Amino acid sequence: MDTITIKDLTFKPFIPEAELQESVKNVAKQINEIYKGTSPIFLGVLNGSFMFIGDLMKSIDLNCMISFIKMASYEGTESTGKVNELIGLNEDIEGHDVILIEDIVDTGNTLEKLYQMLQEKKPKSIKIATLLYKPEAYKKPYKIDFVGKEIPNAFVLGYGLDYDGYGRNLSSIYVLKD
Ligand code: IMP
Repeated sequence: MDTITIKDLTFKPFIPEAELQESVKNVAKQINEIYKGTSPIFLGVLNGSFMFIGDLMKSIDLNCMISFIKMASYEGTESTGKVNELIGLNEDIEGHDVILIEDIVDTGNTLEKLYQMLQEKKPKSIKIATLLYKPEAYKKPYKIDFVGKEIPNAFVLGYGLDYDGYGRNLSSIYVLKD
């Protein structure tokens, strides 16, 4: 694999496709075991999780639903400041087991907002699965239940993850070259 340049930044190979697929299968195995006999709802967080959830679901053997959500932020009034909104959730998740599918958990800010907004909808449970996790950057109390791979605190690209909108189609993960 060669380096890739997108706009002003150059990235070098980091996690090969085979290793990534191994991690995806490992997450699927854990979920299949824990949710055996139940019917959870998988919620993929767009845009970044599309490739992960696509591959993950091929190895999930549960009777389940799959849907996608997105966080939209807009400026509210002066008193409310930034307002976050959950878009795309058409399913009634009340009383259901929800598995949130993330591409990467960095600081956990996004995750925290999503988690709180989902909790208001009274699901039976919420668990979190992420392909990549940066433990050095994570500052939130929520347990990350299923982790594909822990990585150092560096900017990565590919397999759904982008730099300025580009690079999501790469089938392996690249890291910013110093
Ligand atoms: P957090 O709120 O800091 O946990 O970041 C969450 C979101 O930021 C992820 O869902 C990604 O979309 C994006 N992000 C965080 N780290 C990276 C990275 O290394 N590469 C590309 N996107 C990232």
